Amino acid sequence: MYDSQGNAYMDLISGIGVSNVGHGNPYVVNAIKDQVDKYMHLMVYGEYVQTPQVRFAEKLVSLLPSGLASVYFTNSGAEAVEGALKLAKRFTGRQQIIAFNNSYHGSTHGALSVMGNEVFKQAYRPLLPGIRFINFNNMDDLGFIDQQTACVIVETVQGEAGVRVPDIGYMQALRARCNETGALLILDEIQTAFGRTGKLFAFEHFGIVPDILLLAKALGGGMPVGAFISSHKIMSALKENPILGHITTFGGHPVCCAAGLAALEVLINDNLFDTVPEKEILFRENLIHPAIKQVRGKGLMLAVEFESFELNKKIIDRCIENGVVTDWFLHCSNAMRIAPPLIISLDEINKACDVILEAVELVAY
Ligand SMILES: Cc1ncc(COP(=O)(O)O)c(C=O)c1O
Repeated sequence: MYDSQGNAYMDLISGIGVSNVGHGNPYVVNAIKDQVDKYMHLMVYGEYVQTPQVRFAEKLVSLLPSGLASVYFTNSGAEAVEGALKLAKRFTGRQQIIAFNNSYHGSTHGALSVMGNEVFKQAYRPLLPGIRFINFNNMDDLGFIDQQTACVIVETVQGEAGVRVPDIGYMQALRARCNETGALLILDEIQTAFGRTGKLFAFEHFGIVPDILLLAKALGGGMPVGAFISSHKIMSALKENPILGHITTFGGHPVCCAAGLAALEVLINDNLFDTVPEKEILFRENLIHPAIKQVRGKGLMLAVEFESFELNKKIIDRCIENGVVTDWFLHCSNAMRIAPPLIISLDEINKACDVILEAVELVAY
């Protein structure tokens, strides 16, 4: 990235978790231009079938397990969350929602209601009723999911909590508890999908499949689009009594769908997610210093933890001054975010780590 004076910056956070195939990827840019030449917005999503939406949905479904066969495109991640919560209530006829402490699902009223951090919510009450918060990766709390629960909404890897990876056994127990009680499992993969953790979708690490999958961020290859994806059976609940269970004017914008399909093709044709594990290892090998308390995460979704926010902020500021863009996490201010475009080279990783370590040396001592 370049600023208005022409200074170059290396992007270590993909703004945020979006630019998985890099900035200005020519294949994505050309797909956007081609679609703009054909048409932009025509009609409210779903009223008429539009080719870019169909082609993109077909491609997504071809890469997902068979239970995830119906795609509803939205404008954003938060709108995907709203659609999914509504869908779960309609399908189950239940009202209770289980969400997690330190979660982040977006900033609209429904998404804010399931955010597990009181600081960001208190000014907007009353929010949605019937939400219970439980602790992430805590087996005992699974007992709170019961026959009253419409859905459990959870990030497959918690992002804004500072990149918390759950245990495989926990995710499998969560899936089993949802099956037992009839609660729908909503996996928010808005930050974790499209190779970020080294698999196309992070749920593949855990051997589970959600009832509803949420996508956004990297979904559009740099253009704004989100999606909630489920089975035809579950999605059909939005069709009747009343009809038009979720309406969106711009959701699935044809230019965004063309961009998203192109980005997905780049990701797959270039095997980008296969390169992620060695890149993770290189970051971990480089980022060793007495002031670094821990490097946490999976793939190219990492958190570098320091003693305090003050220290972290000074290190981040110094990195930005030296041309490496990074930041901290909404619910974890003492950790630095590392989530670069997946195309980052090994050489670029070494250079970025040199800048970080120089900043740590300077600020910590
Ligand atoms: C896990 C997760 N869910 C949902 C959202 C909300 O997406 P959007 O900002 O597109 O509304 C975000 C955004 O950061 C996110 O990280």
